[in-house]
Amino acid sequence: MNIAIIYFSATGITETIANHIAAILEREGNSVKLTNIITPDSRGSQFDFSEFDSYIFGFPVFGGRPPTVAEEWMKTLDGRKKKCSMFFTYGARDLEWAHQITYYLLTQANFQVVLSAEFIGKHSLNVAKGWSLAKDRPNQFDFDIAIEFGLQSIKRFQKGSEFSIDLSEFTYKPKKTRKARGSWANLYPSRGKDDCSMCYLCEKECPVKAFDAISGETNKKLCIQCMHCVTICPDNVIYIGEVSQLFKKFSDRWGLTKDVVEQKRSKIIF
Ligand SMILES: Cc1cc2nc3c(=O)[nH]c(=O)nc-3n(C[C@H](O)[C@H](O)[C@H](O)COP(=O)(O)O)c2cc1C
Ligand code: SF4
Ligand code: SF4
Repeated sequence: MNIAIIYFSATGITETIANHIAAILEREGNSVKLTNIITPDSRGSQFDFSEFDSYIFGFPVFGGRPPTVAEEWMKTLDGRKKKCSMFFTYGARDLEWAHQITYYLLTQANFQVVLSAEFIGKHSLNVAKGWSLAKDRPNQFDFDIAIEFGLQSIKRFQKGSEFSIDLSEFTYKPKKTRKARGSWANLYPSRGKDDCSMCYLCEKECPVKAFDAISGETNKKLCIQCMHCVTICPDNVIYIGEVSQLFKKFSDRWGLTKDVVEQKRSKIIF
């Protein structure tokens, strides 16, 4: 089979899982094309969904659902009734409605969703000093689930396979734009006063065109706090502030002790 894996990945966690899935699909004799849709250009190019036999979509969970830009992108697709599976990575808090919303959007986009999975990954805010959540994930156990997910996806993509997910009772509610409040409102990256080699990657790769390479500042009205610019800067000069107090508040509120996080498991569902 000819399979496309299309994913959004800001700090590399969803990409790592996508790579493990691709490896097992290829080992089983399939050809695979991987595409990260993080840049505006990659989402702007028209996808021709007749090109591949089946699709796998992967998204990180931002505030209990896929990133807003990924949701908007899904609304533009025509899946031509092709089969697809979907997976999510999340930073050990919760996925809330991510499966249901994505199922809804892909079904509306004319895909047949046959399988879903969720993977624990290092929380994106680990790029900040004072944040420590699921730092050593995904681990080998998570990768084993990714392999199993790849194998089950292939089975369900076969002609004649009757598997499909039904989440049709879920009612989709469009996202209300919420401004980051309280301490979250400080979590915008900037280069500060540091010099850099002016490679412009931060500006070119920002998913919402929020980063200005010349000033080194973020447009707070646009930034979705994905931490991609912090992760990719080759000079390591993009930062966000110190967040230990926020981390304590966050982990207490959600009961995210070390034990609780260690017990969290990646899994295939539906
Ligand atoms: C803005 C933002 C919101 C997030 N919201 C959640 C969340 O609601 N639940 C959760 O468990 N993790 C959350 N995370 C953590 C990411 O889902 C997780 O680290 C993911 O694996 C990152 O994938 P990526 O590196 O491919 O972008 C959030 C991260 C960011 C940047
Ligand atoms: S990615 Fe880093 S080095 Fe490149 S322009 Fe931006 S701040 Fe400078
Ligand atoms: S400026 Fe904001 S939205 Fe753009 S890459 Fe950086 S964190 Fe992500």
